[in-house]
Amino acid sequence: MSAHYAVIGNPVLHSKSPLIHALFAQETAQNIVYDRVEAALDGFAACVQQLQQNGMVGANVTVPFKAQAFALADTLTDRARQAGAVNTLKFTSVGIEGDNTDGIGLVTDIRQNLDFELTQKRILILGAGGAARGVIQPLLASQPGMLVIANRSEQRAYALKQQFQPYGIVEACRYSQLAGMQFDLIINATSASLSDQLPPLPQGCFAPNSLAYDMMYGKGDTPFLSFALRQGAARCADGLGMLVEQAAAAFYFWRRVHPATAPVIAALRAMA
Ligand code: ATR
Repeated sequence: MSAHYAVIGNPVLHSKSPLIHALFAQETAQNIVYDRVEAALDGFAACVQQLQQNGMVGANVTVPFKAQAFALADTLTDRARQAGAVNTLKFTSVGIEGDNTDGIGLVTDIRQNLDFELTQKRILILGAGGAARGVIQPLLASQPGMLVIANRSEQRAYALKQQFQPYGIVEACRYSQLAGMQFDLIINATSASLSDQLPPLPQGCFAPNSLAYDMMYGKGDTPFLSFALRQGAARCADGLGMLVEQAAAAFYFWRRVHPATAPVIAALRAMA
């Protein structure tokens, strides 16, 4: 019998997760079925309970339910606890296990797919919401030279600095305070690209050979990536690789099998 999984979100219609997991399952000869489930905005916990009763064994969780999934899980992996959010659930006979694979997905994409070494690099994260919070600890674990969080609302950046200081060197600031600083990697973790906006990054922040990374995907060159190219970034990447890598880490969490990600990234790019 097939093991049954789904991605739960609202909206969820455009999620690429079913396709990604179908490709992983095919490639690794795992017998799984993977669906999309739209939960009511006030009905996430009830939806999860129903899916468990129907025999589902795991789920991915996407916007806007990652914090609710964190609260619902009976046990959490360290990385989920640090992220304060859960994107992967495993339903077992003793309860719900929650994991967060977003951060490891980003780091794997940058290091392995983009062949960009993070150790000793100067990293800037734009934004201090859930997307930023989910990736800070895995980035710090790669031992960058420094990690700065810039946000419009300075308070949110400081709150993240306080939380993650035990794991490495983290600074927090407003955008205007970045003037005169240079970074090897600038990651856009704001939601600005969703509305075709550009975070107010000062001129001159991209070091020679720098990488610009937008965690959004499917929007072509976002205003941030276009700005980065004009500002002399050597390379640009969108979040498609991160999407596939976070899915691969979730697949491993459930199945204990590592799927190859390069053919899946290539297949998704070919469809774009
Ligand atoms: P997510 O879970 O996607 O991170 P969020 O928690 O609502 O969503 O956070 C959105 C982030 O994008 C915040 O850091 C927000 O900045 P503020 O905290 O100052 O509001 C940032 N953001 C959204 N639109 C932006 C824009 N046009 N320019 C700069 N930052 C933006």
